[in-house]
Amino acid sequence: MSKKLDDIFTNIVHSRIFKNRELLRPDYIPDELPHREKQIMTIAKVLAPLLQDQRPSNMFLYGLTGTGKTAVAKYVLEKIKTRKEASGRILTAYVNCRYEDTDYRVLASLNEAIGIHVPFTGLATAEVYKRFLNGLDRRRASMVVVLDEIDGLVKKCGDELLYKLTRINTELKNSKLCVIGITNDLKFTEFLSARVLSSLGEEEVVFPPYTAPELEDILSRRVEKAFRNGVLDEGVIPLCAALAAKEHGDARRALELLRIAGEIAERNSQDKVTIENVKQAYKEIEKDRVIEVITSLPLHSKILLLSIYMLQVEMGKKEVTTGEIYDTYKTFCEKIKIDPLTQRRIGDLINELDTLGIINVKLVSRGRYGRTKIIKISVNEKSLKEGLLNDEKISNLLK
Ligand SMILES: Nc1ncnc2c1ncn2[C@@H]1O[C@H](COP(=O)(O)OP(=O)(O)OP(=O)(O)O)[C@@H](O)[C@H]1O
Ligand SMILES: [Mg+2]
Repeated sequence: MSKKLDDIFTNIVHSRIFKNRELLRPDYIPDELPHREKQIMTIAKVLAPLLQDQRPSNMFLYGLTGTGKTAVAKYVLEKIKTRKEASGRILTAYVNCRYEDTDYRVLASLNEAIGIHVPFTGLATAEVYKRFLNGLDRRRASMVVVLDEIDGLVKKCGDELLYKLTRINTELKNSKLCVIGITNDLKFTEFLSARVLSSLGEEEVVFPPYTAPELEDILSRRVEKAFRNGVLDEGVIPLCAALAAKEHGDARRALELLRIAGEIAERNSQDKVTIENVKQAYKEIEKDRVIEVITSLPLHSKILLLSIYMLQVEMGKKEVTTGEIYDTYKTFCEKIKIDPLTQRRIGDLINELDTLGIINVKLVSRGRYGRTKIIKISVNEKSLKEGLLNDEKISNLLK
């Protein structure tokens, strides 16, 4: 046993596969970001007035997940901070609003970035804002604030803080502030009032999905430093790129596939990473994704999915209609003593599950009976069950 354990450690420390696996971590920012030159140039041009003490426009960066928004924003911040004209006069802050998801916490981070410590809680938000405003004005500097995953903050707390920050220059006498908002939620602008939208969106920078050849290029450059020479079988990189481009060109997904394929090869003590390893990695990621999505669903959606699962998998029905599903759903609700939702509401939930890609809804014509919806599970059934079993109430029902 301990020999086996030793072997595992030895394998990982003296990897035959990886030269530097850290370079494949999702938060690693490489020295170059190919295929984002246009976005980098646009942002740099908008920010350039900072170097001459003028206020640049606010900016809004958007695009689907894994299209390089965070990497580009951090890269540009780093570059501008290290310009010699900037010495001490350009301040930057990067805040991820998924974690700092209240006005108070965002403002606390901004204070922190200019060297003002505010307690975790206890002050009024207005007071934390005032401290930031006065602190920044005293610094006689220009500041660039990146608010990443900004939808997290706005959905929870509204856009009051954004409004204040995008207008703060009217209150500052000696300093300037520029806000860069980032989101991958394209519907998020619905949550913004027109006044915020117009000031944040002074400049908009779009991040389109990468194409498969672009992903190949990104991966190839990373591979040189992350993997040992010649350990990747021919076809490994193109396959990772193609799989990641299948839904939309997501660089995070492509890098993850490559890393997990490498780890599988390492676990099996192989000398090379094969195409088969990539396929295994793809399955692993898919499975994790399905389980995660299902585990995080609200209870009624889970009961609904359980109903579909029962009818399609356990009872082997080829075509499941909304009527049958609703009846089964109601029975389950009775069993665990909760009030069922209306059939109409369940119809909405069915559409949501369709949008998430968990089920597939097809409208078919039934002649003179009109049209009816046919529902089918469109993810791996085992993973679906595993996700449902994570819920205690549901697992009792499954028993
Ligand atoms: N052009 C590129 N060259 C090299 N690596 C890249 C490039 N674009 C993205 N990456 C890498 O891909 C991963 C995902 O990129 P990033 O985190 O910037 O995506 P994002 O657009 O912020 O996604 P999300 O909306 O999910 O936050 C990161 O590890 C990043 O280093
Ligand atoms: Mg990001």
